Order: sequence, then C-alpha cells, then structure tokens
Amino acid sequence: MTRPDYAEKIPNNVGLAEDRRLQRALESWQPDFLSWWETMGPTLPTQDVYLRTAIDVRGEGWAQFGHVPMIDYRWGIFLADKNPDRQIAFGQHKGDPAWQKVPGEYRAELQRLIVIQGDTEPASVEQQRNLGATAPSLYDLRNLFQVNVEEGRHLWAMVYLLHAYFGREGREEAEELLHRNSGSADSPRILGAFNEETPDWLSFYMFTYFTDRDGKYQLGTLKESAFDPLSRTCEFMLKEEAHHMMVGTTGVDRVVERTAQVMLENDTDEVAAFGAIPLPVIQKYLNFHYSVSLDLFGGETSTNVANYYTAGLKGRWLEERRKDDHQLRDDAIMVDALADGQIGQTEVAALVGLNTDLRREYIADCAGGVKRWNRILADAGLPQRLYLPHVAFNRKVGAFAGIEASPAGEKLSADEWAARKGQWLPTDTDKTFVRSLMQPVYERGKIAAWVAPPRNGINGQPFDYDYVHLA
Ligand SMILES: [Fe+2]
Ligand SMILES: [Fe+2]
Repeated sequence: MTRPDYAEKIPNNVGLAEDRRLQRALESWQPDFLSWWETMGPTLPTQDVYLRTAIDVRGEGWAQFGHVPMIDYRWGIFLADKNPDRQIAFGQHKGDPAWQKVPGEYRAELQRLIVIQGDTEPASVEQQRNLGATAPSLYDLRNLFQVNVEEGRHLWAMVYLLHAYFGREGREEAEELLHRNSGSADSPRILGAFNEETPDWLSFYMFTYFTDRDGKYQLGTLKESAFDPLSRTCEFMLKEEAHHMMVGTTGVDRVVERTAQVMLENDTDEVAAFGAIPLPVIQKYLNFHYSVSLDLFGGETSTNVANYYTAGLKGRWLEERRKDDHQLRDDAIMVDALADGQIGQTEVAALVGLNTDLRREYIADCAGGVKRWNRILADAGLPQRLYLPHVAFNRKVGAFAGIEASPAGEKLSADEWAARKGQWLPTDTDKTFVRSLMQPVYERGKIAAWVAPPRNGINGQPFDYDYVHLA
C-alpha cells in the first residue's frame, strides 16, 4: 500500500517518487496548470482562505483545515485504497480481476471517458471565476473557493490517469484540458452546460445543486469501472463532491428561507421591492439549471453506452446493489420518446437505455431537494411550492430536443413557446434584477439581504469566523 507523500512537490499516494518519468511529466504540466489557475481561476484577490486540503484518503487526512493562500494550495493526486481482490462487477468480464492497466482494445474509449470527465472540472472554475466580487458573505466566499480548488484537484486526478496510462496521447489531452475554455467561441468546453454562464449566486447555488449532482452520478458510474485506477480516483472524488452539493442544497435553502421571511413580514408575494428574490424567479432558475443538467446525461438511448457497459468501462449507479445478472442481455426498459410526434415512452433493450437508467436515479435525487425547499415554505405557512419541470421541458439533447414543451409536459408550437417561455425561464429582466442584488458583503458575520445565514459554519467554526482574508 502506498502511503501519501505530501512533502513532495505534488502531494500523492500513488508512489510518484518511484516513477521518475511520470513525476517529470506531471511536474512539467504543473506550471501550465498554475498559469491556467492564475489567468482563468478566481479573480478576486485574496491573502488566504480557510480551506480543506486532502493530504491522505483515510481518517481525518482527507480534510485538513487551515488558512492558505490559494495559489499555494496543495493540489494532489489521491486514489482511494486498493482492494487487491476487487473483481469486475458487470458486463462480459464480470468476475474477472479488475484491470490495473488499460487493455489495448479499450484504450481509445477509456481515454475519451476520462477526457470528458476531466473537461468539466476546470470548466466550472472558469464559469465561477467572477463570483468572488459579489459574495453574500465571507462564509459563502470561502465555500466558492473550496469548490474551485477541489475542481482543480479533480482535474489533477484525471490528468494523472492520462499521464500515467495513456502515453503521449494522454499528455496531449492533458494540455488540451487547459486550452479549451468555458464559453470560448473557438475552443469551448465539451459539454453544453459547462459553457453556460454562472453570473450570480443564485445560479451558483443552482449549479452546485443540479450540475455538480450530475457529476456525482457520472463519477458513480466510473467508480464501477473495471479499470481500477479510474475506479479508485472517482471514489475519492465523490467524497469531496459531497461538499459541493451541500453548498448548493443549503444555498437554495437559504434563498427560499429569506424569501419566505420577507413574504411574511410584508404580507406580499412581491418581494423584489424588499430586496429578496421572488419565488417565481427562483423557480425559473431551477427550471433552467435542471433542464440543462438533464442534457448532460445524453440521449435516452445510446449504443456507445451499451458497449461501455458490456466492456466493463462504465457501470450503473450502485451497480453492486442491483439485483439482476449485471449483464442485461435480455432485459428491457421504458425510455422517454416521441411517439407519433407526441411526448410518450417506448420500450428498448436495457443496455441501450442505460443513460435513462442513470438519469432516473438523478431525477429521484433532485426531487429530494425540491421536497426540502417546499418544507421550508410549508413551515413558514405559505401555500406556494417549487417543482421539477417535465423532462421534455427546454431540452437540447435527446428525444425532446426537437420539440418544445411546458414545465407541465404539454407539447407546444414554436409560437406558443416563444410567447410563453419568459414565464418559465429567466428573462433578461429577471437576470438583471438578480444581478442588482449581488452586492458583496465582506464583513465578518454579515450577510446580504437576499439570503439567510447558514445554520452551521465550516468545520465547527462560527458563521462570523474570518473565513477569508482579502488582499
Ligand atoms: Fe469535480
Ligand atoms: Fe464538484
């Protein structure tokens, strides 16, 4: 077992010191990463930030807290502990020992899966780079930076795999991960949602709730991979990812809570005049982030994904808990589809419908957030409720990409959609209003008027702790 070595330039538990070639390759990528961080990372100048750093994967080691200058953050390479007896849990190689090397026949596919995952990690840092300028509190500012440095570390995790297992092509792909940029006209990020803006903190909370949660499900399928180093990398990333979703879940909680308070205090739904975000605007932001995140799951059916599964490259969410043969040769699944031009479902082979299987797990998880936000409204004695829009709403990928539908799932003509979409998606007026509320609050223990303070601080510290020292 390799013990973590964090005295090294690149902290790691993969025995980098014993592999000089790999170490040199990663050390030559490191300056490019740092210059990417300086040019594309957080723009707000800070002295230091109260951050969690992973120096080990066990015990307390994965979460060491302290004030550190962000540029000195110890981005490292950490894989969950190896289980020497691990067997492949699904597909045609089910029961074989997990692979410690990349089989030649699956090299291209595995590299592609790693590049697509790797591309999302720095993308979100780029999308969120200007948010520090409008943070509602030092606590929120710290959470933003925590998410940013960990997405940076997730990039390191994927780059390690590319360098260690995919030779020259892998090194070239690792460079490309720094050269594509979110929203760039010439070389955008690979997936649509990662080229959208995150211009305000309501968007940030929705992004960390809905889009980081997509990441959780994608990592969950890669954690099942027969390629053991990928599996172990993703397992540890998932542990960090939980915090990102906590930021989203409690962030939306706090917006809803504040809006409910202002509604009650002033006995009105029209809270904009009182500096809070009206519930219909929150719903529109939810509609947008949820629908673009659904697109990240790809089409309802995919023969590529069926092949990845059969080959053992990418499993199902909680594969080992599924009570079936883990090969799915004879099974079927109902998937969303257009039937005679109408929104409906159709039956396909289970293997071909795996994207739908994963998306359903994700949707069930998202419903949990809506339930808790509605509990906040119910506890305040308010009759309004938030909801998840229909899967056909605002889709650019999959069966419903070619049609328009309302959040209730009724099919609309292009004219009806054009006339009504402003009721369901943030309009320029909504966005301008939300942005107008985004005035920074950098004083310890203070918070912006549009959001409630958190119930708990970070790592047992109080809300009014000095989480960030600005430059
Ligand atoms: Fe990540
Ligand atoms: Fe994340």
